[in-house]
Amino acid sequence: MSITDDEFVAKLEKHFSLYRINLRSPIASTVVRDHWYRVDILLVNELGLFRRADIEPNGQVIVSCDLLVPSGQGVTPFSPDPNWKLEIRAAPEFTQGKLSADRLAVPGFVSSGKGTFEYRVTCNNDKDAEGGKRFLCIRPSQLINFPQKQQAGVNLDIILPLVIGPIEIVTCGLKQGDTHLPLELWRDQTMDMVYEGYRVFDTSVQPPVNIAIHEMWDSGIPGKIWDSALVMLDVMKRIIDKRPEYIDAKHTLDLSAGTGLLGLYVASMMASPQSTIKQGKITITELDEAVDLINQNLITNNFLNHRNAQCQLITRSLLWGNSQEAACCGKADLIIASDVLYEAQFFQDLVKAFVDLSHENTRIYIGYKRRGLTEEEEKYFWSLCAEHFSITLLTLNGTEDIDDCLVPQMTVDTSVQLYRLTVK
Ligand SMILES: C[S@@+](CC[C@H](N)C(=O)[O-])C[C@H]1O[C@@H](n2cnc3c(N)ncnc32)[C@H](O)[C@@H]1O
Repeated sequence: MSITDDEFVAKLEKHFSLYRINLRSPIASTVVRDHWYRVDILLVNELGLFRRADIEPNGQVIVSCDLLVPSGQGVTPFSPDPNWKLEIRAAPEFTQGKLSADRLAVPGFVSSGKGTFEYRVTCNNDKDAEGGKRFLCIRPSQLINFPQKQQAGVNLDIILPLVIGPIEIVTCGLKQGDTHLPLELWRDQTMDMVYEGYRVFDTSVQPPVNIAIHEMWDSGIPGKIWDSALVMLDVMKRIIDKRPEYIDAKHTLDLSAGTGLLGLYVASMMASPQSTIKQGKITITELDEAVDLINQNLITNNFLNHRNAQCQLITRSLLWGNSQEAACCGKADLIIASDVLYEAQFFQDLVKAFVDLSHENTRIYIGYKRRGLTEEEEKYFWSLCAEHFSITLLTLNGTEDIDDCLVPQMTVDTSVQLYRLTVK
């Protein structure tokens, strides 16, 4: 049965809740002080799409930009730059090969999901600061008439900032002619460029502890952080805050973790000075071909391995249904399964993985965002689970279940549901 265009649009629009800032073109990797550079950006949802009705006719997303200093050990923890400051200004629109005479009203997005701005790095004090490696953090600073239909109570958290780098600040010497223009208009095309995008999540503000998650949008499903993982991140914060005994000195397993965000977040909380969880084992699993990105993210956040000897952080390849690979992971006390429920043909294998990884007291938390599955397919999945597990749909502000307090408001805004499975 085919669906009409209107039904198709309505189906797609259900997926719009959280946006990300992504790069539209690479940026120059060497940055000369006091010189302007143009950055072209996009607003997209988890599927890489933008809903024009969210910003047309008069919406704006104003962006700000900061410099972050990477640590010596890996990339994180980032700290603010004490020496250099970054100035930002609106840039002219560039459409169909033409640069407009006027600048946009603000730096960022004006009535369009394609945005732009210019930045320059200047010295924070009179003395000459040293150059060196930095990262550029592009974040929303103000939303005006965005999203159009739902302006009350919207906060900046609906847009995920982007961190790009490394860029090298140099204090003199290099000629950087056209960098304030769109890349297509540069005369000198030989410059090194950077396109690497990260999302950064704080676990402690003072001292700064944060992790950076490298995304690879071009590598398909495992290469990015899905909405469900952002909701499950909030769930993990609540577990750490309200039910630390589920994690502390326990084995947590982030199943089919994609980028590894949730497992790395738990590890970084174990390394955070104020945290209630101090030790434990964390296993992060993915399909064999997707483990590399998680390993890269471990290297990016290398400080986690040094800072807390009490935290054992491991990545493993795990194809659902493969008993041998599951046995290598060992039984887990807490299993986090974010957005793993999307292909009915793998349901039996997925439930087998849950069974293989569980002991009698294991808790499994599933973040499920309804997209393409039919009601029958959903029922089939839960019936397979019911053969081994008790299933609870946890509810926001509920009082029936001790875990209802783990459900964040984001579940409503994103339509991600939180289920818990416990062994029967
Ligand atoms: C939608 S992504 C979710 C990734 C991550 N958990 C998140 O929420 O950001 C689903 C993940 O399941 C993994 N996956 C798909 N089929 C699998 C299978 N048969 N065995 C193991 N993992 C699988 C994919 O590699 C992908 O990373």
